Amino acid sequence: MTSVADVTSSPRRASTCIPTGGRVSTAPGTSSPVRSTPGTPDGLSRRTFLTRVGIAGGASALYGSMAALGLVATPANAQPVDFRPPRQGDLSPSARKRTKVVILGAGIAGLTAAYELQKAGYECHILEARDRPGGRARTIRGGDSLTDTDGVTQTAEFADGHYFNAGPARIPNHHVTLDYCRELGVEIQALVNANAESFFYHENTGSTDYGPLAGTPVTHRQAKADYYGYISELLLQALDQGALDDTLSADDAERLASFAQSFGGLQGGRYVGNDRRGYTESPGAGHNAGVVDGPPPDLSTVLQSQMGNRFSFEFGFSQAMMMWQPVGGMDRISFAFADAVGKQNITYNAPVTEIRDTADGVTVAYTTGRPGRTRVIQADHCICTIPPMVLRGIPSNLSTETKAALEVPVGVNTGKIGLQYKRRFWEEDSNIFGGITATNMDISGIWYPSYGYLGERGVVVGYYSGAYTDLTVAEREERAVAQGVKIHGPAYRDELETSFSVAWPKVPEALGGWVSWPGGRGDAYDHLLKPDGNVYFAGDHLSHYIAWQAGAIESARMTVMNLHERLAATAE
Ligand code: ALA
Repeated sequence: MTSVADVTSSPRRASTCIPTGGRVSTAPGTSSPVRSTPGTPDGLSRRTFLTRVGIAGGASALYGSMAALGLVATPANAQPVDFRPPRQGDLSPSARKRTKVVILGAGIAGLTAAYELQKAGYECHILEARDRPGGRARTIRGGDSLTDTDGVTQTAEFADGHYFNAGPARIPNHHVTLDYCRELGVEIQALVNANAESFFYHENTGSTDYGPLAGTPVTHRQAKADYYGYISELLLQALDQGALDDTLSADDAERLASFAQSFGGLQGGRYVGNDRRGYTESPGAGHNAGVVDGPPPDLSTVLQSQMGNRFSFEFGFSQAMMMWQPVGGMDRISFAFADAVGKQNITYNAPVTEIRDTADGVTVAYTTGRPGRTRVIQADHCICTIPPMVLRGIPSNLSTETKAALEVPVGVNTGKIGLQYKRRFWEEDSNIFGGITATNMDISGIWYPSYGYLGERGVVVGYYSGAYTDLTVAEREERAVAQGVKIHGPAYRDELETSFSVAWPKVPEALGGWVSWPGGRGDAYDHLLKPDGNVYFAGDHLSHYIAWQAGAIESARMTVMNLHERLAATAE
């Protein structure tokens, strides 16, 4: 078994230098390049410049130019960090007396920090404002309650064994998170992130007409068959007309034509539909060849639908199948971490009220019990994983620069609703077993549960969106259900049993789903990578995996190394 301590040379190292892929609309870390980028020659727009380079020099020249502009991560602009687990043997006898660490927050970053430091003999204590570990890695089950910043309390009424992950919900193969699942014995199962049977659904808006397919749910399989088919046919036409003769040798043109035939499922160079689209009458025994669903819509109808613009989601580095989830809910990871760290080393229901960096350590005040009594904990070092949006409201003697840096990140507006249905109609009526329907309605999508298949009931995620944050709890359900009915029909309303919604900007301990760094990661980001006196910072916001548990883990590991190396270097 590979332990986490052994991963220094593992392929996961790539994760420290490649920017996150993700959802186009809300995924973090993708909207702005890291730092400012040099200008392009002669005032050309970046796009025009790159297009010209691409035409002239092909993919490798284009890649080189993009690297020079800082648009792709390369060895030159990446700073890989290999995790070197701290070892007690690195510390001098006097340094060993300075290994008490208070960790603020029992989310994934805080738990990772405590877990790794404890391995080297550090004495760690975690203060956590909530009543459980995990932070935003929150799984909602029956009986769970949340009170938002408006004072509104919801209590979940999901049936036993049913739940939804209100925060992180998927783990790709290459994330370090899976190493910890292995090490902590957390069982995982597939999270279906892409499914041929789930739908695309686009409806017309004031500004965009999606053509004849507007308002019609189209399966991923049909949308792909039609796009791939027509694109391939066009490619063949271009080849036949000699449009690529200057670009391709005759042999390469042949090879490309052969690819187009197979990719598009063409017949005689034409796309006329095929069984990739599915059947209206299923094939079966004897002479029953079935009836293929066709003919396909015409090319213009397919292009007007704009469904093809959604295909790239599943190519994303961190979104491509296979994807994973812990069996029983994402918080199984946090609870496994918390067990390993030890109950006696975590104080729950203990919101921090003041942080004071001192000459020889840190003093942290927190409240506990009801009515809140103030207590104080002293340590040699502090690792603070409280999200910046919350931390900037906590009194402290942190430097002016740190306080200014904490003001920069913006809490991202997002949330989810879990809708429990008494019948798994998506499975029974539409053959959808897990996966996500994507739509331009403001629910953004419907996630079908990747567990409990063929069972009696199930919890779907009915929106993943910031558009619901300012609605009442009842309005959120009503609006999400009304949109789902357009895709799944009346069952989506009639078979609903109960719901629970989380609006991350209104969760007091989070004040956002994750952070965005306006203008990209800049000076404020750099500042928070360094300690302020004896106070260190960690969290997914200080990584290139914002909004992923892997970001929290990578950041915590970097902070653990920094703290340990500083202690090892400074003591006699
Ligand atoms: N990691 C988040 C997601 O996959 C952004 O949706």
